[in-house]
Amino acid sequence: LAEHQLKNIKITITAGPTREAIDPVRYISNHSSGKMGFALAAAAAAMGADVTLITGPVTLATPAGVTRIDVTTAEQMHAAALKRAELSQVFIGCAAVADYRVADIATQKMKKTTDDSINLTLIKNPDIIADVAGLSRNRPFTVGFAAETQNVVHYAKDKLIRKKLDLICANDVSNSELGFNSDNNAITLISAVDEKTLPLQSKTELAKAILLHIYLQFSAK
Ligand code: PMT
Repeated sequence: LAEHQLKNIKITITAGPTREAIDPVRYISNHSSGKMGFALAAAAAAMGADVTLITGPVTLATPAGVTRIDVTTAEQMHAAALKRAELSQVFIGCAAVADYRVADIATQKMKKTTDDSINLTLIKNPDIIADVAGLSRNRPFTVGFAAETQNVVHYAKDKLIRKKLDLICANDVSNSELGFNSDNNAITLISAVDEKTLPLQSKTELAKAILLHIYLQFSAK
């Protein structure tokens, strides 16, 4: 993909985990490092796009030329993403968003009790990418990821349809050589009409290949 090929295209990308507080010192989260989403942001900016990167808590440096918005929770990511999505032509949801948050966040550190078990009630978080794909005005070309440990392509296709996405990157995260926190990754790109496997490679190289595919599908629309 030539430099400047994405010139004048606004792309919003989500990356990293979200963090859902239990009390002031504890939270629920996942192993996302942000590397895949940051690689996508770096590659898109290098191709001339106007990139906004909305990220959960990660330890990565902001790629050159990228506008970064830091958030912590799924609800914060949802608000930031919907605001930016309407202004974007392409939206890529690479973040590992917590599906649930704690119903009642304790205002003080929870004390250990004499009980052998305790219960936490969790409530569903908003589905960011489904809400972006469901925009009735200025809906961007919407690309999701599906992190799965089994039936990867089958579950990814289900998410493509259920969330009304244009494209989904099926990511097998059962293998520690790829996916969460690794420097390398492999995915299968799935749209309503075709499927293409991008083999194991660095997230930097994979990001360029994903963007080329998005560009070709997006510009054909
Ligand atoms: O960050 P790294 O360490 O580099 O790892 C990369 C990755 C494995 C996190 C990434 O490649 C990946 O697969 N990201 C998606 C992770 C995920 O949470 O997938 P999911 O199958 O649970 O979600 C499906 C899609 O819905 C995703 O686009 C997700 O961003 C989105 N989603 C999910 C829940 C929710 N409440 N809102 C959402 O927008």
